[in-house]
Amino acid sequence: MAATMLDPADIVIFGGTGDLSLRKIMPALYYRHKEEQLNPAGRIIAIGRGAMTHEELVALILEHCKNYISKDDWDDAIWKDFAKHLHYAQVDAQDSTSYKSLAKILDDSPREIRMFYLATPATIFGSICEELRAHELITPTSRVVLEKPLGYDMTSFRSINNAVLKCVDESQVYRIDHYLGKETVQNLMVLRFSNNIFERLWSSDSVDHVQITVAESIGVGSRGGYYDKSGAMRDMVQNHLLQLLCLVAMEAPHEINPDSVRDEKLKVLRSLRPIPQQEIGSNTVRGQYRTGTVDGKPAQTYLEDIEKGASDTETFVAIKAHVDNWRWSGVPFYLRTGKRMAQRYSEIVIQFRPVPHNIFPGLTSEPVANKLIIRLQPNEIVKLQMTTKVPGPGGYRLKPVFLNLSFADAFNERYPDAYERLLMDVVRGNPTLFMRTDEVEAAWNWTENILHGWEHARQSPQPYTAGSWGPSDSFVLMAQDGNKWHEDF
Ligand code: BG6
Repeated sequence: MAATMLDPADIVIFGGTGDLSLRKIMPALYYRHKEEQLNPAGRIIAIGRGAMTHEELVALILEHCKNYISKDDWDDAIWKDFAKHLHYAQVDAQDSTSYKSLAKILDDSPREIRMFYLATPATIFGSICEELRAHELITPTSRVVLEKPLGYDMTSFRSINNAVLKCVDESQVYRIDHYLGKETVQNLMVLRFSNNIFERLWSSDSVDHVQITVAESIGVGSRGGYYDKSGAMRDMVQNHLLQLLCLVAMEAPHEINPDSVRDEKLKVLRSLRPIPQQEIGSNTVRGQYRTGTVDGKPAQTYLEDIEKGASDTETFVAIKAHVDNWRWSGVPFYLRTGKRMAQRYSEIVIQFRPVPHNIFPGLTSEPVANKLIIRLQPNEIVKLQMTTKVPGPGGYRLKPVFLNLSFADAFNERYPDAYERLLMDVVRGNPTLFMRTDEVEAAWNWTENILHGWEHARQSPQPYTAGSWGPSDSFVLMAQDGNKWHEDF
């Protein structure tokens, strides 16, 4: 179905010639232009510090976009048309006088909507917003998009956020968590709230535990400088994994509007049980990759990747969490994420309780329990594990088999990148899939407690082999409760 064309917008990207812009934002805008959702009267204004002609900008974006747009979707004529909407403004974000060039472009013929996408270090978000306000560039229909990481801890988040909120209203701020824009993540809410069969089962009455895994096979690559100050907890758990947990655990919002959805997620974040200091060792695992083999190629250690002799930063985290409310009382939520793991593989597993009394004893090696597996990436699939009888005489032999919903088979459509949906939501003025201040604070509140616990316990990361499923303690974390990580590759 063709997308509805949106109102004309000026999309201003600070860090417009940087990695995120070239890898994610520009390709996403190309696709939305191709699908005629971007209004042709709109403009895309890349901001950079150096001098650059229009031709140089177009050549730079072309060179990168071609790597991120599939050959089937590439169209020279569409690209040429897209390139006409690109503009460049030389602005040094911290030099007030340099904003005049941006003001000139914007004020000459303003479009209905203005988006300022801040793909820069968060430390300068406040000063950029201050300059935009001082130059009267923030209009009532302006939106400011903030890229993660939003700070290092609660204090730094508050200081960045307060500086932004001095210049724009909370309703104009769009804090990105790109996981919320992934098709399969959006589908989580549809799965839960449009299929009545799940609701009665979606609680401690029927659910034994929940697993959320976001595994990556890549290492830290060229982002070592940032990553070593952050680690997996701040980079992945505080945002992506907690957002996934919220979508699994939340109550049904009364409608899909931004505040109803975010209010429900906030309740989950506030119900997360803080992990007491004496349980940090048994309920959390930190790891750091060593040398190994990933995707058939030798992989070096984290320390070699970041070119340092020593580091206490974790590249792997596993946590046993609890949501202290009526629905989830007593149900562990196991979270796991890591770099340089055996595969890129993200999934949510809802492990249901076994039948109360097994009438087929001795005839199955598997416990008679159902599992709902929601594979987020790659090969998006929803699978329900059912126990069935193996056909044939000889009594009851039981075997777990799957009811499969493969998205590739069900929908013969391209899966748009998360940024496509999120960028268009900003133009539309729909912040449902973006994080509100109180959500980010609640997420920091819970994660910071664990970070402090690690510091206090001096809990160093356990080594794990690159290309494995993480340190042995993450298997112990499950085994101590009689559980194991779901593995189905
Ligand atoms: C980012 C993290 O937010 O998410 C990266 O900073 C990580 O470290 C990335 O690699 C993972 O995103 P995706 O979409 O590839 O799963």
